[in-house]
Amino acid sequence: MTGCLHKAGSPICYKDEEEIRMNLKGRHFLKLMDYTPEEILHLVDLAEKLKKEKKQGILHRHHEGKNIALIFEKTSTRTRCAFEVAARDLGMQATYLDPSASQIGKKESIADTARVLGRMFDGIEYRGYGQEIVEELAKYAGVPVWNGLTNEFHPTQMIADLLTIREHLGRIKGVRFVYMGDARYNMGNSLMVTCAKLGMHFVACTSKNYFPDAKLVEYCENVAKETGATITLSEDVETATKDADVIYTDVWVSMGEPDEAWAERIKELLPYQVNAKVMENAGANAIFMHCLPAYHDLNTTVGREVYEKFGLEEIEVTNEVFESSQSVVFDEAENRMHSIKAIMLATLGE
Ligand code: CP
Ligand code: NVA
Repeated sequence: MTGCLHKAGSPICYKDEEEIRMNLKGRHFLKLMDYTPEEILHLVDLAEKLKKEKKQGILHRHHEGKNIALIFEKTSTRTRCAFEVAARDLGMQATYLDPSASQIGKKESIADTARVLGRMFDGIEYRGYGQEIVEELAKYAGVPVWNGLTNEFHPTQMIADLLTIREHLGRIKGVRFVYMGDARYNMGNSLMVTCAKLGMHFVACTSKNYFPDAKLVEYCENVAKETGATITLSEDVETATKDADVIYTDVWVSMGEPDEAWAERIKELLPYQVNAKVMENAGANAIFMHCLPAYHDLNTTVGREVYEKFGLEEIEVTNEVFESSQSVVFDEAENRMHSIKAIMLATLGE
C-alpha cells in the first residue's frame, strides 16, 4: 500500500501513486451516492490539508477572480457562512441569492435559472427542498453545482463529519456510529450512505416509524457488502447504543416541515433523546455529534414554544450532553468551512 493519503490504519488506501491523483474537476456535489469511497476520502484529506494551511496562515487563493452563486431557499448559519468564507479564502467572490428577492421558481424555472447563472458564475450552491431541484439545476448549469441541503440529503455536512470523526477517533473504517431521532430525513439518509460507503457500522436507533426509507436501506446494504459496513435498524436504545463510538442526532422537525409535526415527533422520539444515560451506555470514549442548530435549552424561540406547549426543556439532546466534554459539535461546525472549501477546490480544479 504505497502513497496512502490517510492516517495510519486508514480504511481505504490507494494502490499506487497514480490513483492518488484524483481529478474531481467539473463534477457536481449533489449526494454521496455519486462518489466512490476513495473520492470521499480524498475530500476529507483535502479538507484536513486546507485546515492545516489556514491555521498556519498559508494562503490558498487558487481561484482568484472567480465568482460563485449561493441560492438559499431555506435559512442557514453554518452553510452560508462556510461557503462565503471558503470562497473568499480561495480568492473568489460569493453572491447570495435570497429566493424571496429573486425570480427563482416563481417567475423563472430552475432550468432557465441554471442556464443564466451558469453564464455568470463558476459554481453554484443550492439549498432548498426536493433533491430533484438541485439535480435539475446541475443538469442545466454547465458549472459545478453543490448541494447545500435538500429534504433528502446534506452531503457537504458529511465531509465535515468524517473529518471530525477522524480527528477525534483517529479512524473512520469500523467506527460504530449510532444515529438517534428522525432517521428518515436528510441527515439520517446522508449518514447511512456515508457509513455504508466507508465501511462503518451504522445503527438507526429510533421508532420504526422513523427508520430510513426501505429502498435507501437496501442500496446501503448492497454497498456495505463491498466495504465491510453494517446497517442496523433498532428500536432498543440500550442494545443499539452499547459501546458506540459516535452518538449522533439532529432536530426532530426539519426546515420546511409543519409545526404541527412536533406533537407526534415528541411522542415518538422522546425515548430516543440523547441524554447522559445514552452516553454512559456508549462509554467514556464515545463522542457526541450534531449537525446543528440544536434544541438543548430554552434560549431559542422554537425551544421556548415547544416548552410552553409540551413542557419539554430540552429536545433531541439534553443540555448536559451538549455541553459535556464528549460533545464535539463546535469542531464539527468549524469543519464545515474547511470541507466546503475542499469540495469547491476539488470540483473547480486543484
Ligand atoms: N448544519 C447546517 O447545515 O447548519 P445551517 O442550517 O446553519 O447551515
Ligand atoms: N434536518 C435538519 C438539518 C439542518 C442542518 C433540517 O433539514 O432542518
